[in-house]
Amino acid sequence: MEPLVDGWGRRIGSVRISVTDKCNFRCTYCMPAEGLEWLRRDEILTFEEIARLTAILAALGVGEVRLTGGEPLVRRDLPDLVRMLAAIPGIDDLSLTTNGILLTRLAGALVDAGLRRINVSLDSLDHVRFAEIARRDALDQVLAGLAEAERYPELRPLKVNCVAIKGFTEQEVPALAELARRKPYVVRFIEFMPLDADRAWSADQVLTGGEIRALIEAEHGPLVEIPAKPSSTARRFRFADGHGEIGFINPVSEPFCSSCDRIRVTADGQLRTCLFSRREWDVKTALRDGRTDAEVADFLRFAVRHKELKHRVNEPGFVRASRSMSQIGG
Ligand code: 5AD
Ligand code: SF4
Repeated sequence: MEPLVDGWGRRIGSVRISVTDKCNFRCTYCMPAEGLEWLRRDEILTFEEIARLTAILAALGVGEVRLTGGEPLVRRDLPDLVRMLAAIPGIDDLSLTTNGILLTRLAGALVDAGLRRINVSLDSLDHVRFAEIARRDALDQVLAGLAEAERYPELRPLKVNCVAIKGFTEQEVPALAELARRKPYVVRFIEFMPLDADRAWSADQVLTGGEIRALIEAEHGPLVEIPAKPSSTARRFRFADGHGEIGFINPVSEPFCSSCDRIRVTADGQLRTCLFSRREWDVKTALRDGRTDAEVADFLRFAVRHKELKHRVNEPGFVRASRSMSQIGG
């Protein structure tokens, strides 16, 4: 079948599928402290619908699937979905982004089901500051979850993601850099984006990858850049002595839209062609109203043709998306 290509000539190879809008944390850069309304059960795609959509996308050349949320591990029986997706021909990279708190219980079942890659969010290695940002006192459980994931050599690379916020993250950088040296974790810093439910984001709260790199280099000497895949959102670096890898995801200071190869599907089955899309495409209805796979594929092609050229976070008049990160899928 013809590959999935957008209106600007970018080939789509990756989909991020949110399996729930719920989360057991309330990270300040993502969710409000309280008051988000959850989707109803019948609004959320079933595992069968997700698997069908994934198979259609795989046939269009989308080989990479990442499961997200909310917190994906709060979706009941998630390993069953992983097993279904791992069995789809053409899906050669299946990964998960999690806050890590349920990994002690679920890592084994996920690996057994076919999961091969995992990203764990971790913003602070200090208990008090962790609780301040996640609004849950769960640092020890997240570290235990990471340790559990580490027990499975199938789950590599293990990535740790930290959202970098000015005035907060500077203080976390030394310990997180040490973590990258001490553990087989690739520690990655992600610039804070205007996707927080509290709408508190402002440009001056973005701690850039460049600023963090300078902090690390002041302590450890120059980092050495490692080539990354063209579609990669991260710039990769290793410490000069070869022990440890650091990544920087710089969507605000160094936008990578021109090589973007991804689309997203929300838990309620809306296709988004950009994190910052102001428009969604109702794939759920396309899946539920009796269309054939070929008709759903046509719908996907049509939506993808309208993928945004780039985000406009740095431009005057930028308008935020109506949904926040936990409702879109990280
Ligand atoms: N800016 C940048 N990254 C964010 N995430 C959530 N909200 C934001 C934001 N406003 C990331 C977190 C988490 C993933 C699900 O999304 O790092 O790892
Ligand atoms: Fe939950 Fe992830 Fe959002 Fe934190 S960033 S509230 S862990 S969905």
